Amino acid sequence: MGSLGGIEWETACTANRDNWEDRVPLHERAYGVEALDEPRYLTPVVRTDLAALAPFLPGSTVSGLEVCHLQCHIGTDTVSLARAGARVTGLDFSPSALASAAGLARRLGLAVEWVEADVLQARAAVSGEFDVVYTSIGTITWLPDLAQWASQVAALLRPGGTFFIRDGHPALYAVDEDAEGLQLRYPYFNRGQAQVWDEESTYIGDGKVAHTRTYQWAHPLSDIINSLIGAGLQILRLDEGTTLPWRFSSRMVEVPDGFAWPETERDLVPCTYTVIARKPPA
Ligand SMILES: C[S@@+](CC[C@H](N)C(=O)[O-])C[C@H]1O[C@@H](n2cnc3c(N)ncnc32)[C@H](O)[C@@H]1O
Repeated sequence: MGSLGGIEWETACTANRDNWEDRVPLHERAYGVEALDEPRYLTPVVRTDLAALAPFLPGSTVSGLEVCHLQCHIGTDTVSLARAGARVTGLDFSPSALASAAGLARRLGLAVEWVEADVLQARAAVSGEFDVVYTSIGTITWLPDLAQWASQVAALLRPGGTFFIRDGHPALYAVDEDAEGLQLRYPYFNRGQAQVWDEESTYIGDGKVAHTRTYQWAHPLSDIINSLIGAGLQILRLDEGTTLPWRFSSRMVEVPDGFAWPETERDLVPCTYTVIARKPPA
């Protein structure tokens, strides 16, 4: 991949990976991983996502299906999918995240395959085809090229297979996280330009990272949907939600399934979107 608004993907990808490597020990402490010691526990993210996905699966369950979890991080959601009965492959570009995830799966007695790769090269790195390709919460803003991403998703799915994504809504990413009221600050239409961030903190816990520079792309919803259509997938469902699992702004309040804007503002802007898509049967 060439230059993206003046930034080489190799430069951006390396900076992002260094940053994610630093986040691993912080997230191991802050994610509440111990909750998984309870044998029936599934992370709230996976519980929510499986409820949305079930109507589109044969038998309404991932049990017995081959699932590829893209950008799996420290594996809390991945082992939850395994616990729900799926045969799971988790992919991430951070070796520390995968080592942590593998340690967690071992400790819980769950068999998961782990693959280290840039998700934009996922097809070449992973063997086999999948009934479900799953990615959720904090994923594609790390990627400059959705056409390349969607082509990996489509190539990983077997004919008739199902794709699932839930993530922060691009309209939310246009909002000023620091303002005293709801106020727009960032472009909704990113036009291929990376947002360059320099931040010591991560979205959970108090720890600080050494590699502060990251590059992110807040893709408009139309680009996300059209990338999947362009890769040959059929869109089955699009939903938008008013809560999300991390505190996007300090003004957000805790609600039963995460965080949301104060009640008087809750219907002004979406917080998440969910897309379910299918690779046409052969
Ligand atoms: C916020 S986590 C998403 C997973 C899940 N929601 C969670 O919190 O456990 C983002 C993950 O994307 C990974 N990532 C970022 N860019 C990537 C890329 N180009 N290829 C593969 N993984 C990438 C990071 O290493 C990180 O583990």
